[in-house]
Order: sequence, then structure tokens, then C-alpha cells
Amino acid sequence: MNKKFKAISLLLVVMVFATIMAACGKDGSGGGSDVSVGIVLPTKDEPRWVQDEQRFKDALSGTKYTTEILFSQGSSAKEKENVETLINKGIDVLIICPQDGAAAGAAVEAAKKEGIKVIAYDRLITDTDAVDYYVTFDSEAVGAAQAKYLVDNAKGAGQPLYLYAGAATDNNAFLFFAGAWKVLQPKIADGTFAIANSSEAVALKDKAELSRDELSKIIGQVTTNWDPNEAKNKAQTHLTSAAANAKGDVLILAPNDGTARAIADVFGSDSAVSSFVVTGQDAEKASVQYIIDSKQSMTVFKDVRTLVKDAMGMAVTLLDGGSPETTGSYENGKIDVPAKQTDVIVVNKANVKAELVESDYYKAADFTGLE
Ligand code: GAL
Repeated sequence: MNKKFKAISLLLVVMVFATIMAACGKDGSGGGSDVSVGIVLPTKDEPRWVQDEQRFKDALSGTKYTTEILFSQGSSAKEKENVETLINKGIDVLIICPQDGAAAGAAVEAAKKEGIKVIAYDRLITDTDAVDYYVTFDSEAVGAAQAKYLVDNAKGAGQPLYLYAGAATDNNAFLFFAGAWKVLQPKIADGTFAIANSSEAVALKDKAELSRDELSKIIGQVTTNWDPNEAKNKAQTHLTSAAANAKGDVLILAPNDGTARAIADVFGSDSAVSSFVVTGQDAEKASVQYIIDSKQSMTVFKDVRTLVKDAMGMAVTLLDGGSPETTGSYENGKIDVPAKQTDVIVVNKANVKAELVESDYYKAADFTGLE
């Protein structure tokens, strides 16, 4: 081989290598095709987020946009890593439901620095200006609907009321509880309900509206962390120490379906509890079955198909260079984040079939005893 030929060969090898690297995305490690929309969800351990993953997949089949869904498995460190992975894959839009609303600030700031548009999905990311949009259900209405259900199904005066809340790291837990409190508080103040498991709530019983700090105090005491096991342990502790007049016919504000089933099982196995009304949220399949079986009283149905459609619609508008439509805004501690909000639907035994089966959300075959 002569020298000139060797030099040309080397040059060719270098050129081919450079072309491959360029096609591999920003870090040179990708599989060649860029991802346009990155989606990060909090955990696979709660059925709610597996529902969302499925609805994203359904919505995406047949579209021209490339997306990737990653789960953070309850860890803000993993969440940050997921965002970095997606940044390196060249995403232009990030749709993210934070594990911890405040801790996610660092991850979205990293995305923002790369010019990526950030859409907070279902849960708001707080204390940062690096969130462009928020797609959400009407979370205050969720809490208000749960509380209204308890009020509408109350029996007599001085009825025991057990309060439970979501995780304090989730901004929604505050919105749900604030929405519920507005409806419950007058009934607590006038003695219709007697709070059975929160001294902090008792101390605040005459306040119609609670500040974030006041909500924190109550949530700190009655949080489930969205964990059914934690909910079960708390409910057991509460019933063990409950006086006789805190049993009988009781009312239970449970923040979502996973915790509602756990709490219902505990209350259902206490012979001194003669009846209970328990709320829920998310229309998880297991809770729909509980409702059919009269073991859970209601759930708040959040049609995830709508949220996914809104989030992807926003992403596509942004990819096409447009500005998405919003319906209001949410203050996140630093800025007002433009938001698109969706209504929720109350479901109990009477309308479970119409709302969840006849709307094609679930199949009748998923349940037994559906009439
Ligand atoms: C909330 C969400 C609820 C519920 C809960 C537990 O933020 O809005 O639908 O799933 O988290 O993960």
C-alpha cells in the first residue's frame, strides 16, 4: 500500500466515524434516532402511573413523533438521571410528573438550559422558573368531591371522621386536602363530624381556609406517603387507640384508591366499626372491583386519556413552533405556570358501569358482579 493511499483510507475512516457519531445524538452513545418527546413518570409501583404509561402508549401508536417513557421509581436522583438520559437523546420537549415537586427543580433546570420545553404532568414542579406549562386535573375539586361524598352520606351528629392524606412531597396532596377541608370544616366546626385521628386538625377546626403551613401540620400527621402499607399501619394504630365513641358508623377521607383499599380492609375487620364510608381516587381496577363489592364507597375518576391527549397536544404544538392553549395558571412558589385543567368525575356503585365501562375506559370482563 502506498503512503497516499494509506492517508486517503485513514481520512475515509475518520469521516465515516464522524458521520456515525453525529447520527448518534448529543453524547455519541445513542442508537442513532433522536427522541423528540421525553416522558418521565414517578413510579411503576402505583397502578395510577402504569395507567398513564399505557394511555401514553395508546396515544402514540401511529404518530410520527418519537417518544421515550422512563420511570423514576420513587427516587429524585433516578429522576434527574432519567432527564439527563433524555437530554442526551436530543429531546425538544420534556413531559414530567415529579416524584418530589421541589426536588425536581434541578432536573428541569438542566433541561431548560438545553432549550428544552418543560411540561409538568399531573403534579406541579415547585420553586423554579424552569417549568413552561402544566397539564392537570382539577385537584381541589378532587378533594372537594371526596368530602362532599362524606357529607352526603353522613349519619347523625358527632360522627367520627378519620382523615388521611397523600405525600407531603407532592403538591397535589395539598390541593386535595385543601379542597376537602373547605367542605368538611363547617361540619367539623358545628359538631356534625368529630375528628378521630388528628390533633392538628382538631386545633384548626375553626379555620375555614388553611395556609400552606397549617395544611403541612395536618398532612404531616396523617400522611400515607401514597403507600398502602403506611396507610394500613396508620389505620391500625388509629383504631387501636380509638375510644369507643370513635367507632360505630365512621367516615374516612382516604386520598386515593391504593390507600383507600388498605384502610378499608383495616376498618372492615374491626368488629366495633359497624359501618364506614371511605373515599378514593384514580378509578384503579382493583378499587372499581371494591366498589362493585361494596368494600369502597366511591372513587374520583380522572380520565387519563384526556390528560395524555392534552400533554401530547401541547408537545406537538411546541414542536411545530406554536404556543399551546391554556385555561389558567398555577403559582409554583416562583412563577405562575400556564396550565390546562381537566374536570373529574365522581364514581360510586350507581354509575360505575356507565362511567368506566360504557365509556370504554375498562372492559366489562375486567370485573365480576358488574350489573
Ligand atoms: C397524585 C395523583 C393522584 C394519585 C397520587 C398517588 O399526585 O394526582 O392521581 O395517583 O398522586 O400516586
